[in-house]
Amino acid sequence: MATFWICILALVTAFVSVDAAIINAPDERLFNVVDYGAKPGDKANNVEAFTRAWGEACNYVGKATVLIPIGEFTLSAATFSGPCKSVAPIAVQLSGTVKASMDLSLYPKESWLLFQDISGLVIFGDGTIDGQGNNTWHTDKCADTNGKCTILPASLVLNQCTNVLVRSITSLNPKGFHISVTECKNVQLEELHILAPESSSNTDGIHISKSDQVSVTRSLIQTGDDCIGIIQGNTHISISEVTCGPGHGISVGSLGKHENERDVVGITVVNCTLKGTDNGIRIKTFPYNGKATPIKATGFLFKDIVMDNVKNPIIIDQDYCDSKKHCFDDKPSNIEISDIEFNNIVGTSQTEPAVSLVCSSAKPCKNVTFDNINLIGVNGAPAVASCSNANVNMEGLQLPPVNC
Ligand SMILES: *[C@@H]1O[C@H](CO)[C@@H](O)[C@H](O)[C@H]1NC(C)=O
Ligand SMILES: *[C@@H]1O[C@H](CO)[C@@H](O)[C@H](O)[C@H]1NC(C)=O
Ligand SMILES: *[C@@H]1O[C@H](CO)[C@@H](O)[C@H](O)[C@H]1NC(C)=O
Repeated sequence: MATFWICILALVTAFVSVDAAIINAPDERLFNVVDYGAKPGDKANNVEAFTRAWGEACNYVGKATVLIPIGEFTLSAATFSGPCKSVAPIAVQLSGTVKASMDLSLYPKESWLLFQDISGLVIFGDGTIDGQGNNTWHTDKCADTNGKCTILPASLVLNQCTNVLVRSITSLNPKGFHISVTECKNVQLEELHILAPESSSNTDGIHISKSDQVSVTRSLIQTGDDCIGIIQGNTHISISEVTCGPGHGISVGSLGKHENERDVVGITVVNCTLKGTDNGIRIKTFPYNGKATPIKATGFLFKDIVMDNVKNPIIIDQDYCDSKKHCFDDKPSNIEISDIEFNNIVGTSQTEPAVSLVCSSAKPCKNVTFDNINLIGVNGAPAVASCSNANVNMEGLQLPPVNC
């Protein structure tokens, strides 16, 4: 009998403490875009419903999740701004598809879905962001006689955000870049599917600028332009277990175009595979144009990378030119590249030159290490390496040997 009462007492105590825990936990609330008037289908523009749902979630003092349920929701350009009052991180659960319209006039800026000024953000789910870019890729982007080129909107843009996780979503056929990260700190991009045809132009998979501590991992990126583009002002970027291709490969730069560019310091690319891409690993800088800041690109490690039928597996090009307008002077680049290691890079090259180093005669590449390189032609033919203006160290296997 005594045991019985002790059990009852124990149960009551347990209930009381569970209750207390519920009271202490922050209130969780779901903000379903459908409850704010979002309607699936091609016709409606759901931007108002989406931004209202975001606004209430962001102002909610508790744990907030914006839900985009299963269904296809069409959306014009939308801005989701912080700072938020909700308990960080605010979450966006993407279960359905968010679709852009084919009408370019609805996208006047450089972004479609812009998240900005948010500290603590999680975007997750099995859903898709469909940029419907297929009718924009063929437009002449530099038709303007002033040489100004139209920048088509990137599908997902993170601007001035900190502590962000983007996980498992799919990005399909953007008009411009798939994902752009700019002026952010501590961003994790995981298990993403980034898809567009090889023929799509300017559809960078992930474009990173002026950010610190950005990681991309366990992702598949098949697109028409750079798989991952790391441009000026980035520090501590790490890429691992990413499969790229088709596309233009993993690229640092272009650097050396503008005034006020900042150094690029600390990039690691580990355990990645490049399949049928134009380039494997590329570092590119413009020739000096009379105004570019003399920045440094330093501390890069490229390790355990498989090249599968890649046109230019390893390439440093300090004489890069994407258009005549940018490279009129063609003086040697003033960007200093140093402390670069290529370690265990193996596989096949589609062209004979597998390694090409074209460094600047004004600022030769310093301390470039090749450790265990095994690259051959697709048909087993030997590949070749070329090198100018670089100070190179070699360890382990060297195929092809780099003679500077
Ligand atoms: C783009 O894709 C849509 C939907 O798949 C299709 O209806 C349209 O014809 C395509 N446009 C072009 C130019 O390929
Ligand atoms: C790379 O792969 C190796 C072997 O599978 C593993 O031990 C290592 O942790 C991986 N590193 C990263 C950063 O993915
Ligand atoms: C050369 O670069 C490596 C990193 O790739 C670095 O660990 C090493 O200290 C550098 N050596 C010199 C002499 O700067």
